[in-house]
Amino acid sequence: MQLISAYNTMNLSDLRRDFGQQKDSPVWSDNPFSLFGEWLQTAINKPVQEANAMILSTAGTDNKPSSRVVLLKEYSEKEGFVFYTDYSSHKGRDLEANSFASVIFYWNVLERQIRIEGKVKKVDRSMSTAYFNSRPLESRLSAYVSRQSQRIDHLDELRQQRQELLDSGNEITCPERWGGYALMPEKFEFWQGGTHRLHHRMEYIYTGGSDWKRQALAP
Ligand SMILES: Cc1cc2nc3c(=O)[nH]c(=O)nc-3n(C[C@H](O)[C@H](O)[C@H](O)COP(=O)(O)O)c2cc1C
Repeated sequence: MQLISAYNTMNLSDLRRDFGQQKDSPVWSDNPFSLFGEWLQTAINKPVQEANAMILSTAGTDNKPSSRVVLLKEYSEKEGFVFYTDYSSHKGRDLEANSFASVIFYWNVLERQIRIEGKVKKVDRSMSTAYFNSRPLESRLSAYVSRQSQRIDHLDELRQQRQELLDSGNEITCPERWGGYALMPEKFEFWQGGTHRLHHRMEYIYTGGSDWKRQALAP
């Protein structure tokens, strides 16, 4: 059967790139949070656009994984990796049923990937409202009128509601259904492209207290 497609001029199997542009092997810190911070700073300095964008994967009661991009807004060893969203969205419903999730960062120009797995919980309400109030008016208005992931007939509905809200002059407070989640890592894996497909991989597994076990993985 001959496949006729607008894309058949491109042969994906020929798309290949030699990794290993970074001549030095990574320096593996003992603490994965410090290493994450170093790599994120390198990405920001590069600059990688939206270096804080991460792909979040969740699976709810149906056990079907689902992924989307969210922005990392804060991270620390104590609080975990924080992002903000609508709790009533697809991801929110998944996390309500199953708090295990993973995030992944991929910084193409640096040939680096970081995978993080752990449990997610809602951040304190005060933290969510403080962050909501720090957002520009435009973003607050949109978050207020948009019930993320619910079916709509047309975006104009939301545009109109947004305008009405703006015209009302009412204060726009953080909706109950909107707020932050924090993923507390149990595992990190750092990947850096190497020559001849011998990439560098290092896994960190949480063993309690402030301790992490570190092990290299075959690429
Ligand atoms: C660069 C980028 C950043 C995004 N940041 C966020 C974010 O921080 N929070 C959020 O809820 N959605 C964010 N989104 C939208 C999500 O990818 C997704 O469309 C939305 O959260 C609904 O996902 P869900 O239906 O799986 O819950 C972002 C999308 C992109 C492309």
